[in-house]
Amino acid sequence: MLDVTIARASLPSSGALLLPVEEGGSATAAAWAGLDAATGGAISRALETAEFKGRKGQTVTILAPGAGLSRVVAVGLGKLADLTPLVAEEAGGAGIALLGREATVAVAAEALTPNFAAHFALGAVLRSYRFDRYRTTEKAEDKPRLSELTMLVADPAATGAAWHTLKPVADGVFLTRDLVSEPPNVLTPPEFAERIEALEKLGLKVEVFGQKDLAKLGFGAMLGVSQGSAQEPRMVVMHWHGAGDHGGKGKGKKGGKTRPIAFVGKGVTFDSGGISIKPAAGMEDMKWDMAGAGAVVGVMAALAGRKAKVDAVGLVGLVENMPSGTAQRPGDVVKTYSGQTVEIINTDAEGRMVLADVLWYCQEKFEPRFMIDLATLTGAMMISLGHEMAGFFSNDDTLAQQLHAAGEASGERLWRMPLGEAYDKHLKSDIADMKHVGGRPAGAITAAQFLQRFVNGKPWAHLDIAGMAWSSKDAPTVPKGATAYGVRLLDKLVADHFEG
Ligand code: BES
Ligand code: MN
Ligand code: ZN
Repeated sequence: MLDVTIARASLPSSGALLLPVEEGGSATAAAWAGLDAATGGAISRALETAEFKGRKGQTVTILAPGAGLSRVVAVGLGKLADLTPLVAEEAGGAGIALLGREATVAVAAEALTPNFAAHFALGAVLRSYRFDRYRTTEKAEDKPRLSELTMLVADPAATGAAWHTLKPVADGVFLTRDLVSEPPNVLTPPEFAERIEALEKLGLKVEVFGQKDLAKLGFGAMLGVSQGSAQEPRMVVMHWHGAGDHGGKGKGKKGGKTRPIAFVGKGVTFDSGGISIKPAAGMEDMKWDMAGAGAVVGVMAALAGRKAKVDAVGLVGLVENMPSGTAQRPGDVVKTYSGQTVEIINTDAEGRMVLADVLWYCQEKFEPRFMIDLATLTGAMMISLGHEMAGFFSNDDTLAQQLHAAGEASGERLWRMPLGEAYDKHLKSDIADMKHVGGRPAGAITAAQFLQRFVNGKPWAHLDIAGMAWSSKDAPTVPKGATAYGVRLLDKLVADHFEG
């Protein structure tokens, strides 16, 4: 990861410089007045020629402006009065993407508050992500070189403190992106579980359930999905105890013990569709059918990394969905961990089967204050909202409102979708307690209705992130590829409502 250092503002005499500029700006003028003078007015002339106004998202690159600098990139912040952490992050991300082959960069951030400066750095770091593990022949001159970012600020101590709580979030995002990017022959359920176990170094407690444990518990839904694969399934439970003695006084407690909040993730390490096999075109995308689990791991790592004052559990159901002689058939009836029976209609609707058992286990074992599940669950959700927002469903209006607000603030946006009796009826089966798919209409909603039958009436939200887990184009803080959607969203939700 890009190394971030924080220093007292002074005019750099070499390397590249990012220059955040306020719209119409005089407040940030001090940040570059000295620089403009040192370059004989080259900066202001270039900005004027480019009609740079400092609007949000606007950028100008000035190469070799003089005064020893290799390049200056001006990035617009919009009006300072309207500045938010998210806008600062996007400015940082947009700026860092324009640095070509520079190895180091400084940011003239003395006009930014410590919090905004730290968020600017976060955006820059998030955009610099690259998954490089399997490139062995790339020429050195084609590799990005940037390795150091120096924030030049008015108050290094306060900016450092702000960065200290944001860096673990960047670490969590990178961890999730690594997991989601890994090929499916490498990231099998057992390998995924081992990578989670390695997070004990952060202070998380990690429990791993293998095939035998799950069979003994009676996880018939999840094991039905897994039975066609040569890979063993895993369920992994991560615990973070950060609330201490003060955690969630009163309503958050049961018998003196703090009730945790809970995150649950779909971790299908490869989804071929099983016997109801998917078409060949694009099937390689189904390596990222574990992105919900990836996000749960990333947010748990972020909470532990920044020592969040909350008790949280993260549960992931890890399976591979494959066709074979031992695979599940359409028409099979399975008994879920909840005791309810399910008629299998289409073996490609496997994610909800995994979540059914893990959700039931979660509410029974932990009595959490709420459960939030994340899953690349349906193509239908992607058709509804595209790649701009995730869809979510909830039986709890307060939680829904908090989630929506965290989405707007973090930039990981989401939109509430309906639940209701009329949709639930689509799941009626002639042989079992229910079937697991409705039909093509309202496919994302009937999937959510199915999940709701496994939350036992407890507060819950389901995030269908099928359209958000992977991106085919660069965004300001998210290079194309694995997005780690959900990590910043849930970290923000916790920070705003469930700490201290
Ligand atoms: N993992 C897929 C959903 C998906 C599709 C995610 C494309 C991301 C991109 C899920 O397991 C699935 O196959 N869902 C089916 C359900 C159907 C068989 C009821 C779908 O959406 O087509
Ligand atoms: Mn599927
Ligand atoms: Zn799937």
